[in-house]
Amino acid sequence: MMKRSKIKELLKSPPFGKEVLVKGWVRTKRGNRNIAFIALNDGSTINNIQIVVDTASFDDNLLKEISTGACIAVEGMLAESPGKGQNVEIQARKIEIYGKCDAETYPLQKKGHSMEFLREIAHLRFRTNTFGAVFRIRHAMAFAIHKYFNDRGFYYLHTPIITGSDCEGAGEMFHVTTLDLKNVPIDTDGEIDFSNDFFGKETNLTVSGQLEGELGALSLGEIYTFGPTFRAENSNTPRHLAEFWMIEPEMAFYDLNDNMDLAEDFLKYLIAYALENCTEDLQFLNDMIDRDLLGRLRFVLDNEFVRINYTEAVNILTTSGRKWEFPVGFGRDLQAEHERYLVETHFKRPVIITDYPKEIKAFYMKQNDDGRTVRAMDVLFPGIGEIIGGSQREEDYDKLKNRITELKLPEKDLWWYLDTRKFGTAPHSGFGLGFERMILFMTGMSNIRDVIPFPRTPKNAEF
Ligand code: 4AD
Ligand code: MG
Repeated sequence: MMKRSKIKELLKSPPFGKEVLVKGWVRTKRGNRNIAFIALNDGSTINNIQIVVDTASFDDNLLKEISTGACIAVEGMLAESPGKGQNVEIQARKIEIYGKCDAETYPLQKKGHSMEFLREIAHLRFRTNTFGAVFRIRHAMAFAIHKYFNDRGFYYLHTPIITGSDCEGAGEMFHVTTLDLKNVPIDTDGEIDFSNDFFGKETNLTVSGQLEGELGALSLGEIYTFGPTFRAENSNTPRHLAEFWMIEPEMAFYDLNDNMDLAEDFLKYLIAYALENCTEDLQFLNDMIDRDLLGRLRFVLDNEFVRINYTEAVNILTTSGRKWEFPVGFGRDLQAEHERYLVETHFKRPVIITDYPKEIKAFYMKQNDDGRTVRAMDVLFPGIGEIIGGSQREEDYDKLKNRITELKLPEKDLWWYLDTRKFGTAPHSGFGLGFERMILFMTGMSNIRDVIPFPRTPKNAEF
């Protein structure tokens, strides 16, 4: 048996004149009675390889069964192609059909399907050029993230998916239970009695690995998590998923400036990595999806991010002369329209906003001396809005405990977190990068549902 070659390798350094074996899915078949041309794709690259078939040497019935979507194996000689649009072709000697594909019912016949339609056939959309490109880039970014941190001595820490705490304190959690939902046990106070539940307490899917990540950083020094996170927020927007992946570095001895420096360097590294390693896929997306994609990536790579504090941001917004759908003012959270104005209209580059009012940020952020703001940072990107959220953490036991009490957070679920502030506390910082928001930015796609293989959103958990 000949060893299978990947199409990417054959196109990169073609062994002309050699017999090769390729396997893949038929993208198109055209030709006439004497000769057929098959464009074959095996997922290794966006490019197809052309198979040339001398119809006289093959059984008619076999050739008929080779239609768009079919899976075949082809043995033949690799030759220089005289045809336009490619310089390599395989002159088929032997063809085996692994899987026929019924032309009548195959949903991907026509070109130009809408993204909405392709979402409904997410099990097949990998076979389009667009989704092939998106998911190869997604892979490359995941790999680059691990490489970035590994090269810098950060440890990959696995934080739990099932937790008993709510990191962001927003109460947007999916419950995890094995209780009989038709017969939920109630205690003497009329509350659900979780003591008989699987874990003997109330649990949920994690909204963030940060709290456990901090425990790691306060011993290992620099760690990062990279895992799925879950939010039961009823947000039907092109930027929100109920299940998304987050990268959360957490570093001992970093203040907020160190944290911002890391965030900016990290994002630029990922962009540079994609530009260098995903050239063909990015070019395709630039040509077909978003004509500004490559220009925008290079622009963000080449320019320093603006750093301003929340109070300055609010001043810019209130004096902008714009009419806002959502009101602006100290103490109010910035909405997508405000973030995008700052990034796309006012500064025309990525912006990091720091020192938000404590009321609109999570309990764990380091309190500033003004008593009103915390050492938060949000990184805002063109076309995306918030791509990173992070902060310096409150390392002072009393201040942290007071904040937990003020916000009426359940201290019984956070005793271990408070313990680190009792036993050798240290200044430390970290942030969370939404992986899918990063992939949105890297690919120029416009809906977050189209950069994760199987999106989970309100009322949708198909596949
Ligand atoms: O700003 P967030 O909520 O911050 C945290 O969870 C912190 N614990 C992170 C940390 O400091 N370690 O979320 C971080 C990022 C956001 O900036 C956004 O990119 C992404 O996660 N994100 C979402 N992405 C997709 N769908 C959602 N529903 C998201 N919510 C947040
Ligand atoms: Mg945030």
